[in-house]
Amino acid sequence: MDAVTAIMNDHRVMERLFAALRVVDGDPREVLAEIKARLLAHSVAEEEHVYPALVKEDPGEAEQVHHGVDEHREAEEKLAAAEAAIGTPAFADACKEFIHAVTHHVEEEETEILPALREETPAAKLDELGAAFEERRLSELAGTPYFDQNVTKDDLYNQARKAGVAGRSDMNKDELRQAVERQNR
Ligand SMILES: [Fe+2]
Ligand SMILES: [Fe+2]
Repeated sequence: MDAVTAIMNDHRVMERLFAALRVVDGDPREVLAEIKARLLAHSVAEEEHVYPALVKEDPGEAEQVHHGVDEHREAEEKLAAAEAAIGTPAFADACKEFIHAVTHHVEEEETEILPALREETPAAKLDELGAAFEERRLSELAGTPYFDQNVTKDDLYNQARKAGVAGRSDMNKDELRQAVERQNR
C-alpha cells in the first residue's frame, strides 16, 4: 500500500474513534486509551519515515514538516489534558480542544503534506514508504489490544522476522501474532 493511502486510512480510523469519544456514556478511559495508542503510533511512524522522506525529496517542505511535528506534540499535550480532566466538569471542553487540534492537523496533512509527498515521490518509493510506515506503526501497537485489527499475515511475518522469531516460516497467523506479542512484552 502506498504511504498516502496508509496514512489516510489511519486518519479515518481516528475519526471513528473521535465519534465514539463524543458520544461516550460512562467511563471514557477505554476509548481514550485506544486513541492515545493509535495516535502515538501514527505520529512516530510519520516522523521516523514519512516526514524525513518528504524533506529528502523536496527540502522546500522542511518548514511544513516542522510544523507538522509541532502539531503532533500539541495533540499529545491536549490529550494529556483531557485525560487529566476525566471525571471533572472540564472534561468535555478538553476533549473538544484535543479533537479540534488533531482534526486541524489531519486537514493540513491531507491538503499540504500528503499531496506534496505524492507529487515528489516515485510510485515504487511511495509503496516502500507505505510499508515502512505500517511496519513502524504496528511495532508500536504490538502487545496492545489494538494490534490485530487490519493486520495481515505478511505484516505479522515481517514483525516476526525483525524480532528474530525462530520457526516463523511454519507459523499460521495466530501463532505469528502470539510470538510477536511475546517478543514485545
Ligand atoms: Fe497523519
Ligand atoms: Fe501527522
